[in-house]
Amino acid sequence: TLAAIQDKLNRPLRDLRISVTDKCNFRCQYCMPAEIFGPDFPFLQKNELLSFEEIERLARIVAELGVEKIRLTGGEPLIRKDLPVLVEKLIKINGIDDIALTTNGVLLPKYAKQLKEAGLKRVNISLDSLDNELFGKINGRNVGVAPVKKGIQAAKEAGLGVKINMVLKKGLNDKEILPMAQFCKEEGLELRFIEYMDVGSTNGWKMDQVMTKKEIYEILKKHYELEPIGSDYYGEVAKKYRYKGEKIHIGFITSVSESFCSTCTRLRLSANGKLYTCLFNGNGHNIRDFLRQGASDADLVEYIQTIWWNRQDRYSDERTEETAVSRKKVEMSYIGG
Ligand code: GTP
Ligand code: 5AD
Ligand code: SF4
Ligand code: SF4
Repeated sequence: TLAAIQDKLNRPLRDLRISVTDKCNFRCQYCMPAEIFGPDFPFLQKNELLSFEEIERLARIVAELGVEKIRLTGGEPLIRKDLPVLVEKLIKINGIDDIALTTNGVLLPKYAKQLKEAGLKRVNISLDSLDNELFGKINGRNVGVAPVKKGIQAAKEAGLGVKINMVLKKGLNDKEILPMAQFCKEEGLELRFIEYMDVGSTNGWKMDQVMTKKEIYEILKKHYELEPIGSDYYGEVAKKYRYKGEKIHIGFITSVSESFCSTCTRLRLSANGKLYTCLFNGNGHNIRDFLRQGASDADLVEYIQTIWWNRQDRYSDERTEETAVSRKKVEMSYIGG
């Protein structure tokens, strides 16, 4: 492998988050509001998407530059045809030791087994409420909780590791904190509460809609005894706890109240082949066109190195209500969180 690289803030490159499609079967208000992502929304065309071969090639190159961990995202990644085939290709790459998927879970009954057989280790499944009506409203498609629960079950049965992601928005689903904690505890699942973020330019984010880690913790504390535990790997985004006397973990993703930019080792690749150095940076680097113009591996290495060397993003450290609207940001559905 090549020498490990660091950005301007001395952060190594360790993870690649790959979005495989900008489409989703949900329309979560905080991510792809239905008013904006309607029937006429110009989703990417097939030839605009990176092929599996192109993704594999780029993943092989970033692995040489230090990437050890790959996460597949969307939109909803399981909408991309034959996703297990991509997993199979990526897991064979030297240096990649973790490959995971972030999904809404609905298609897992169909794919969990195939994904596991292809070499996938674990899935993070989004679930924001256990109340059918509220969940249907949040996902914008009136989908109830049962299909997601079936997805969770299928993932467990296939032998995949499962974590649950719950995005909290004040006044919307904060009443669901305790029911979700109870459900996940019973099911032995790690639940992560995610502070609502100002992703993209369409979700109308306001600071006072954020349930902070502190506020969530206060609610949990009345019912559960939690003890802090260390993180599983350098730069893990979740701050983790354990139910006292049990093996089950619970975490907080505190992008707003306690940002974690100083250890951010993540590079993001959008479905149409742009590299982003931050979830909140609107300037993608079009590596797809470079690659399609016949770039050699050495050219691609140099291209990625230069991007990383110049990186100085720390958006969550700088976030205010003003930056939430003034910064040009990439849409979440292009980049998968
Ligand atoms: P693990 O590998 O299981 O730790 O996954 P993860 O938590 O890194 O990934 P996941 O896709 O499940 O993301 C959970 C939440 O963390 C989502 O809301 C993401 O948008 C958010 N997140 C992940 N990486 C970053 C990041 O670099 N910056 C910010 N601000 N949020 C992030
Ligand atoms: N703030 C925080 N998390 C979000 N996600 C989607 N939109 C937002 C937002 N505005 C979460 C999804 C999924 C993960 C990839 O990002 O719920 O779990
Ligand atoms: Fe789809 Fe996930 Fe975005 Fe919801 S949060 S619209 S499930 S990509
Ligand atoms: Fe990384 Fe940007 Fe998130 Fe900070 S805000 S942790 S730099 S992706």
